[in-house]
This record gives sequence, structure tokens and C-alpha cells, in this order.
Amino acid sequence: MTKLAEQPDWVNRVYCEDALAGLARIPDGSVDLILTDPPYNLGKDYGNASDQQSVADYLRWTEEWIDAALPKLKANGSLYIFLTWRYSPEIFVMLKQRMAMMNEIIWDRRVPSMGGSVRSFSSVHDTIGFFVKRKDYYFDLDAVRIAYDAATKKARSRSIFIGAKWLEVGYNPKDLWSVSRLHKEHPERADHPTQKPLEIIERMLKASCPPGGVVLDLFMGSGTTALAAKRCGRDFVGFELNPDYCAIIEQRLAALAQELAEPAAPKAEKKAPAKRRAAAVPKAAKAASKQPAAVKKPPAAKKAPARKARSASVPEDVVI
Ligand SMILES: C[S@@+](CC[C@H](N)C(=O)[O-])C[C@H]1O[C@@H](n2cnc3c(N)ncnc32)[C@H](O)[C@@H]1O
Repeated sequence: MTKLAEQPDWVNRVYCEDALAGLARIPDGSVDLILTDPPYNLGKDYGNASDQQSVADYLRWTEEWIDAALPKLKANGSLYIFLTWRYSPEIFVMLKQRMAMMNEIIWDRRVPSMGGSVRSFSSVHDTIGFFVKRKDYYFDLDAVRIAYDAATKKARSRSIFIGAKWLEVGYNPKDLWSVSRLHKEHPERADHPTQKPLEIIERMLKASCPPGGVVLDLFMGSGTTALAAKRCGRDFVGFELNPDYCAIIEQRLAALAQELAEPAAPKAEKKAPAKRRAAAVPKAAKAASKQPAAVKKPPAAKKAPARKARSASVPEDVVI
């Protein structure tokens, strides 16, 4: 039997529904990684009230979804959560009572200096927590090492460095990740106010989800986790409350599927349009990405208006 035939029907699906309700679809102990970017409760308009709760409600709701999601992880699974300094202290404590904290990663969003706060220092980073369930968690550092540049290699050419394996294999990305946020003109940018860069999500996936493994994202937004999973040869499952964002996910996955179906561009045409460049797929992803991916909208899903979101409607069950 092929892997495709064995695949459970909840894999490679984004359900357009409340994550708390939808989690019941996923069997316990079945996902390799929870990678999620919940509302930060900073008052953003996602076409729903999820980012505009009282502090007490927000923390209560956060604890509720954490308790519903953690049983879905395999025993050697991990969790990454995007937060900001505002509620990361409280939420990290919640998670530390249930898992082992391995890192606090600082994402420097490379925000340019443009005035900003006058009564405090401008905040230009997100705080990411990396947690594991137990000691033998999956972690592939070699998959995410960063190559040394030629100048550094040359500077380390003295005899004491000769044969130093680390010089060839590259270095640990460390816990300070300096990656530009997706400003309006960025080629990857979709119509979602807090879309995350593929570079960051792909690093987490390659390090903490084995090839062919499954990543769960409870709050898909524009679908970056789903896209990254397919680009990296992993499977995904997730939820998104706003139907307009579900339509964006569907469009992004369809564009990727088209990209995968197209024969490799001849060298002379290498400079493709910006959007197309953003969807470029690493070779390793091609085999796994042949599996179907879908955005699934159950009939009961409530339509919430999205600020600036596209109006495309979501078909019941689109397979690309
Ligand atoms: C911070 S954004 C995620 C952005 C995403 N990482 C990306 O790259 O596009 C959080 C998303 O969670 C969605 N959301 C909020 N409450 C939800 C819920 N209960 N179930 C599912 N999705 C929810 C919001 O509509 C919003 O799109």
C-alpha cells in the first residue's frame, strides 16, 4: 500500500473552523510538531475578536487550547509558539508546567528606525518559545546549520582550525534570528496582517519535524505553516477561523502545487516574477508534495469579515 493510501483524512487539511472544536478531529499522539502563532491579544482585527480579549479571558483561553492541543503530540514531539513580551511570561510559565523549555528565541524583525515610542523603547522583536515533551525529542541541527561565508573560513585557516568539522558543516543558528518581517512590498506577502516569513517557519520544521512528519498549527492565518510544510516535504493539519484567510491559504497552496507541477525553468529564465520566486520549492520537497493538500470548510463555519481580506469564497473541500 502506498503512503498516500495510508494517510489519514485529516492530514494536509486546513479546517476553516475554531481550533478548539476542530482539535477533536486529530487523534492523540499523532503529530510530530505543534508550531503555532496564536493571536497576541494586542487588539488586531482578524475579522474576529480573538485578539481583543480581556487579559483574564485571553490567558484562560490560551490555557484551554494548550491543554486541548498537547495530547495530540507524539511522545518525542516539540512545540514552538510565537508571542511577544506582553504575555510570553505568563504563557511560558503555563507551558513550563507541562513541558521542558529548551529555548526562548528572539525574532529580530529588522524594523527600521522610524520614530516610534517616546516613553519606552520601541519593541522590534517577537518572542518564540521552544518546548519539548521529553529528553529524546527529535532535533536535527545539521538540517538548519548556517554556512560560514568565505571570509570567515579564510580567517580560520590557521593550523589549529584545519580539519575542524564545524567550519565545513556550518554553525548553529543560535537563539537570535534576524529575519526581515514581511513588509507590504515583500514578494512573499499575502493579505494577512501578521503573516510570518517562510524562512523562520521552515527552520523550525527542518529542525523539529522529521521528513514526512506532521505539523499542527492551530492558528493558520495565511497558511505559512502549511506552505512551509509542503515545501520541506512534511505534512500539515490546522485551523483558521476567518473564511477569507482560508481562501488565501487555498490560493497559496494552489500556487505552490502549480509551481511543483511546472518543469524546472531553463537557466536564462531564472529571474522569475517576485511572487513566483517566493514560491520556489527546494528539491527535497518535491517528492512529498505530490500528496493532496486541501482547505476544508465545514458547513457550520461562521463567516467573519476580514479587514482588507480578499473576497474569494472557499469551496467545500478543495484538493490541489
Ligand atoms: C497571528 S495570526 C497567524 C498568522 C500566521 N502564522 C501566518 O503566517 O499567516 C492568528 C490567526 O488565528 C486566527 N484565529 C483566532 N482565533 C482562532 C480560533 N479559535 N481558531 C482558529 N483560528 C483562530 C486568526 O483569525 C488569525 O488569522
